[in-house]
Order: sequence, then C-alpha cells, then structure tokens
Amino acid sequence: MKLALLPGDGIGPEIVAQARKVLQRLGLKLEMREAAVGGAGYDAAEDPLPPATLSLAKEADAILFGAVGGPRYDGLPRAKRPEQALLRLRKELGLFANLRPAQVHPQLAAASALKAELVAGLDILIVRELTGDIYFGEPRGIRAAGDGGREGFDTMRYSESEVRRIAKVAFEAARKRRKRVCSVDKANVLETSQLWREVVIEESKSHADIELSHMYVDNCAMQLVRNPRQFDVIVTGNLFGDILSDEASMLTGSIGMLPSAALDASGKGLYEPIHGAAPDIAGKGVANPLATILSAAMMLRYSLGQEQAAERIEAAVKKVLGEGLRTADIHTPGTRKVGTGEMGDAVAAAL
Ligand code: IPM
Ligand code: MG
Repeated sequence: MKLALLPGDGIGPEIVAQARKVLQRLGLKLEMREAAVGGAGYDAAEDPLPPATLSLAKEADAILFGAVGGPRYDGLPRAKRPEQALLRLRKELGLFANLRPAQVHPQLAAASALKAELVAGLDILIVRELTGDIYFGEPRGIRAAGDGGREGFDTMRYSESEVRRIAKVAFEAARKRRKRVCSVDKANVLETSQLWREVVIEESKSHADIELSHMYVDNCAMQLVRNPRQFDVIVTGNLFGDILSDEASMLTGSIGMLPSAALDASGKGLYEPIHGAAPDIAGKGVANPLATILSAAMMLRYSLGQEQAAERIEAAVKKVLGEGLRTADIHTPGTRKVGTGEMGDAVAAAL
C-alpha cells in the first residue's frame, strides 16, 4: 500500500511524524513517501502544491496530511497561499465527501466548552460536500462597481448530481449508525439551498430506512450548542459544513482530537486532523498528535480496507487516555501532561 505523507507547516511535521511511528508499528506493508505542501511547498518550489507533490498524491492509495499555513505566508497572493494546496488537492483528486466525526471521548467530557451532561456520549458525523459551492463557483472576483468603488462577488452553485452523490454518502453512513440524517441548508433564502433540499428529498426515497429531517443553518448552529445529542449524521454544503464542523469540534473539548477524511467516488482519500498548523506552538513538542493518529486509523478503514488495524489504533488511543496521559490542550488536574513525542510513543507502545 502506497501512502503519501504531506506534513505541511507549523505543527504538521511533528504530528505526522507520530502518526508515521504508529503506522510503522502495525507491521503492515506500507510504503510511505513524503512531500512538501503548503508554505513548505512554497518555500521549496514557490508553489503551495508543487507538481511533484501532486503526482505523489495522485499515485498513492491514500494521503495523510498534516496542516498548512502560517503568518509568514499571509501576505502572498491568493494562488500562492498555503490553503490553496488543500483546495487544489480536493478538486484535482475529486475528494468530494468530507467526513468529520465529532465524538466525545468519555475521559474528556470535562474538557468540553459545554456542560459535561450535555455532551456525554456525543457522536455526530458531519458529512460536508467539499468540491462545490461558493468555494469553487464561478464567476468570482473583485471588480469596479458603479459607484466608483469596488465590489467583491462569489457564486454559490450546486448541480443536482453533486447534491445527489453527497446525500448518498450521508444516507449510507447513517445506515451504519443510528439511521438519522439531518440535511442543513438555507432554503428559506437561497435558490441553491432550495434545489439542495429537493434533491436530498428525492434521494431519500432510495433510502427509506433512514429518517430524514431538514434544518436551516442558523438554527443548526444554535441547536449544536443547545442540544447536540439530537444529531446523528448532518449533511451539508461546503461553506456551511466548514463553519458547523468547527463549531461541533469544540463540543468535544479539543480540536486536537478530531480526525477527518475526504473521499473520492472510489474510496481513495485524504486524511487530516481538523485543526490547523498552530504556528504559535510549532516546534515546541507540545502539540496533540492524536487527531493525526486517529486520521491514520480512518485511512486504514476507508481507503486501505484494514478495519482491524484501524480498531487497534483507536483502542490504543483509548488506552493511553485511560492511563491519564494528556497533551497540554486536553490536560486537566489529576492527569499527566506529556509532549507530542511521548504521546506518540505511548500510542505505538499500546498497540
Ligand atoms: C477546513 C479549512 C479549509 C476550508 C481552509 C484551510 C481552506 O478551514 O478544512 O475546514 O475552508 O475548507
Ligand atoms: Mg474549516
């Protein structure tokens, strides 16, 4: 199995190194190759997604991605900015289905921004469409406006087939869970959302065992903090999913714990922690590697057909949390604070 490891910027290299350590310990035949991406890609080749990195990603069976971005690159023109690497990888590889689970590990319920009794046992899966919507819609730009000033504009757009395929992913995911899908849109205002809703309803007819509900995005943002356990699978577009998944991550206590997958139509995927490059703590050895390690577990499950290995990693993470090991972001009184490398070592040993 060929893996592309794209560590990226900030804490990316430190956390991907821990995931590599854990993967190596599994004893599987994994060929791992690394390439520069994001700011590191810009530094190496003046391109956030250098051609060599893109071809490595295309040839691989799966991609493990760290994080990109940093203040050093903030002044670059948009096409050179680190985030473009991620957007281009998603588009070029057709990674349209973004799975973002938000689960509360029982040991970490106290770390949530909400009261522990509201989030205990929380298990939400956000299915975010990832290659359409206002992120990629044309036309877009900044142009002269009639009043002598300028105006900025973007295009929100979804085709029926794009909505149908992401709805299908959500219904199929729900079938393996609690069989409920909540489709989130803004159909009271947006044409795009009206079509979205119609197509999701049509598609639900082929998934009659799944209970479908609809919610406006503003209400969903509110319900996520009011009563988050009402949700099983949430399916939504690219922009709403971007926002709601950050919100949902905080319910779990630490953004440092959450993995994600971006899948194409055949199950090939890019796996990454949902947090960013955290330049403020980069290189200090304090970052939490667990989201990346859990992303590696998702990779084994969804792209490599190694369910057992995925479960071994998840069990190992539970074990080290159970033993009281915590990185700084999830540290609470009575637990033992460890650094990035020590956490990675502990998970590898627990395998
Ligand atoms: C995410 C990120 C990206 C997005 C950025 C870095 C382009 O926020 O993966 O959620 O907006 O999709
Ligand atoms: Mg985001």
